[in-house]
Amino acid sequence: MPTALITGASHVLGRAAARALARLGWSLIVDARHPVDLADAVSGLPHVTAIPGDVTDPGHRAELAATAVRLGPLDLLVNNASTLGTSPLPPLRDYELGELRRVYETNVLAPLALVQLLAAPLANAAGVIVNVSSDAAVEPYPGWGGYGSSKAALDQVTAVLAAEEPGVRCYAFDPGDMRTRMHQDAFPGEDISDRPEPETVVPALLRLISERPPSGRYRASDLLTVAAGAPTAPPSPAEVPA
Ligand SMILES: NC(=O)c1ccc[n+]([C@@H]2O[C@H](COP(=O)([O-])OP(=O)(O)OC[C@H]3O[C@@H](n4cnc5c(N)ncnc54)[C@H](OP(=O)(O)O)[C@@H]3O)[C@@H](O)[C@H]2O)c1
Repeated sequence: MPTALITGASHVLGRAAARALARLGWSLIVDARHPVDLADAVSGLPHVTAIPGDVTDPGHRAELAATAVRLGPLDLLVNNASTLGTSPLPPLRDYELGELRRVYETNVLAPLALVQLLAAPLANAAGVIVNVSSDAAVEPYPGWGGYGSSKAALDQVTAVLAAEEPGVRCYAFDPGDMRTRMHQDAFPGEDISDRPEPETVVPALLRLISERPPSGRYRASDLLTVAAGAPTAPPSPAEVPA
């Protein structure tokens, strides 16, 4: 039975991914900060170890890693937990630096710390790392400089890991806009009901995991387009502006 660790599995994308993988027979380790939401997200799923906690807490990360090591080789690490930072989104010249530090702790340092702790079990499984990114990593949207620059850093961490760890597939996965709590926070008071449901993105994530194309940055929309039009050819990594 393959094993995955998914952070931020209590809501929307993380929750949908966890439920989809559990249905496919995966054993899961999941986390999120709020224990009741986390328990609710994985209720009824077999082979799930839910460990509430904050990914920025080294003690919590150590507990996640110890559990993964105890279970054996780790086939998949999905660094999904993330923070948008200040809402409404401030311009960079006004960004409070303590808050920006918290954004980087959550979106860059915590994912890298988990990779560091789990490098051995991931290598033993010839596993997959999926770092969930955003189009804000490559598009200079006004107001998105804090979150976007953290995701750009995460993309580069992913790219360098791919060069350094050839035995492990390393993906930056851009899910595109989704109708989630985070997206609503980015557009306070706006109607976001036209954004796709997170469940529509999960098939793209599953494609990445099952077909294991070369390490790189992938957009869900590209993976889904190729899946619909040409099922035998995995897409190439997305072109990222220099
Ligand atoms: N929504 C979009 O349109 C969009 C677009 C592009 C990329 N993304 C990316 O997609 C991923 C999922 O986003 P989402 O919209 O589903 O976010 P979300 O609705 O805010 O859910 C985030 C999940 O992570 C958990 N989490 C947040 N901070 C955490 C922490 N410090 N430690 C542990 N768990 C934590 C949350 O639960 P707790 O609050 O209980 O901790 C929740 O389960 C993120 O990486 C995001 O950057 C989203």
